[in-house]
Amino acid sequence: MSRKQAPLTIAIPKGRLLNSVTEHMRARGMNIEFGSRELSAIDSSGRLEAYIVKNHDLPTYVHHGIAGLGIAGDDTLRESGLSFTQLLTLPFGATRLCIAAPEGTPPPRHSGQPITVATSYVRMTREWFNRQHLPVKIIRLNGSVELAPALGLAPYIADLVETGSTLKANGLEVVAEMSRIEVKLVANPAYFKLHYRQTGKLVDIMKEDVK
Ligand code: PRP
Repeated sequence: MSRKQAPLTIAIPKGRLLNSVTEHMRARGMNIEFGSRELSAIDSSGRLEAYIVKNHDLPTYVHHGIAGLGIAGDDTLRESGLSFTQLLTLPFGATRLCIAAPEGTPPPRHSGQPITVATSYVRMTREWFNRQHLPVKIIRLNGSVELAPALGLAPYIADLVETGSTLKANGLEVVAEMSRIEVKLVANPAYFKLHYRQTGKLVDIMKEDVK
């Protein structure tokens, strides 16, 4: 008699992606129901054991192999500085990481002085300014970065822009696009090698077109 395989472990992020992720899985026969305040659950097919984690902690869980797989935006993955095996780009949650400033502000340019930017995306912002050969001073914030220009903390911000409505509501506009951000299914490289077939099967299911 063959032994039933243990489910694959997967970290999925709290916040704006959670519903899209669980809906994508449900439509492919993997229904994950988290009980009230429960942060882990096994899906209805028994294929996955899912953990809900905070966005910025997700790379840490996958890096340590606590969750073998994870679903997160490029922003979270790249900002972590950690390496993962990229398995699939998911068809939802795409957004842009942009530099924004009060309406009418020119894009960042050489002025002899470092350009001050408030952001929670410190690594990606530094890399972008380095590529442009522009000196930058980064002020790290954990949220509500759109407030920074109005309050005089920094003339520029770097943040995710989806619909643009948060910028507009705060009198800001995009002055440069730094990067397109997509949502990825990734694996811990060692976990992927150990669970190659099982993970491959999951990727095939996640790729399926469903009505
Ligand atoms: C993101 C981002 C912007 C907003 C942009 O915040 O930091 O504030 O969404 O979206 P929009 O262009 O559609 O207005 P999110 O809601 O993810 O919350 P957080 O960054 O404060 O965690």
